[in-house]
Amino acid sequence: MTSFWHPFADMAAVDAGGELSIVRGEGSHIFDADGRRYLDATASLWYCNVGHGRTEIADAVSAQMRDLESYSTFQDLTNPPVHALVERVAAMAPVANSRVFLTSGGSDSIDSATKIARRYWALMGEPERIVLMRRERAYHGMHTAGTSLAGIPANLEGYGGLLQDVVEVPWDDAEGLRAAIERVGQRRVAAFFCEPIIGAGGVYAPPPGYLEAVRQVCRDTGVLFIADEVITGFGRTGEWFASTRWGIEPDLLTCAKGITSGYLPLGAVIAAPRVWEPFFAPGVGMFRHGYTYSGHAAVAAAACANLDIIERDGLLARAVELEAQLAEALGPLASHDLISEVRAGVGVVAAVQIDPAAYAADPGLLARVVPACRKNGIMTRTLATGAIQVSPPLSLSDDEVEELASGIGAALDDMG
Ligand SMILES: Cc1ncc(COP(=O)(O)O)c(C=O)c1O
Repeated sequence: MTSFWHPFADMAAVDAGGELSIVRGEGSHIFDADGRRYLDATASLWYCNVGHGRTEIADAVSAQMRDLESYSTFQDLTNPPVHALVERVAAMAPVANSRVFLTSGGSDSIDSATKIARRYWALMGEPERIVLMRRERAYHGMHTAGTSLAGIPANLEGYGGLLQDVVEVPWDDAEGLRAAIERVGQRRVAAFFCEPIIGAGGVYAPPPGYLEAVRQVCRDTGVLFIADEVITGFGRTGEWFASTRWGIEPDLLTCAKGITSGYLPLGAVIAAPRVWEPFFAPGVGMFRHGYTYSGHAAVAAAACANLDIIERDGLLARAVELEAQLAEALGPLASHDLISEVRAGVGVVAAVQIDPAAYAADPGLLARVVPACRKNGIMTRTLATGAIQVSPPLSLSDDEVEELASGIGAALDDMG
């Protein structure tokens, strides 16, 4: 038995089956303690955009730690890597003249965005605007705010009442959002949270026109539009941000993961002028929010080195190629007996959906998917819908695309 209480784990199953220790990474591959090599089909948890083993990130962190590991950034304090990072992120933000609030990860960013949104309306003299809208299938992390915003029902069960005044809307229908805002009363709605591509909820790309339409609904009703780009940020859709790809200038944008490719934990909330200006006005005073590691110097150095790699290696352009290549390579799996659908072709993300009828008929089926993939050299996991997650590093080579698709295919055949 391990002392490690694993996140998102059935510990009885972990204790019964044992742990798997991952000890090394190199490019698109990882290695376990027995030396077995796996293709990292998911870039860990959707984050390792530049691939593993980038020693220049380690070198940048080491150099920064030798000067200064970190220091508080509360009040007027800052440090050189944080200064460099936020200027860079602001320059790539989908809205000009944005400001960047740093956090330690995606859930922190969502929690921060929730507070910024509600406080924005208090500052604007409309404190009754507190209702938060989320979509079905949504995943916005696991802090209290993100759990309250969960559109995956299992993620919300068993905690009593968390954040109140949260309303669910359909995942794919902009008029459904408009109707919900009308029902609640637009003078009560603070913000709408939206993943440009739904990730953990099963990889669902936005229906054509959906993002533009919900953006317009928010404009019409004054509701803040919050793009949750924790997965889509930093290249996964071929732009720095999916919001740029779809031209939806969000009021707030939450991000994490790809900002450091996970080499160290970091998140951010990017605020458009509409939102930050009232907070920055003379006389408004302190925004009493921030984290010990908001602006950690060594983490910011890792982020800058990571952004250098994305730029130098042309990974945004590579993502555009990979989006098509993945769809082409994975598409044929849809005809496998165990598969009902392959969702791919928008961004470097895909879901190979195990047929719900097959796992209804064979309740043990889903538990066999990951072991079968591992046996065939593919490290992945299943999502809430019972789909195999595909979200590889953006540095994936052409050969590795084939390795990925054939490995999943072989795993399905083994299970079949
Ligand atoms: C869209 C989205 N938002 C928020 C989060 C939470 O991020 P973290 O796990 O870094 O707290 C995630 C994590 O997967 C995510 O996919």
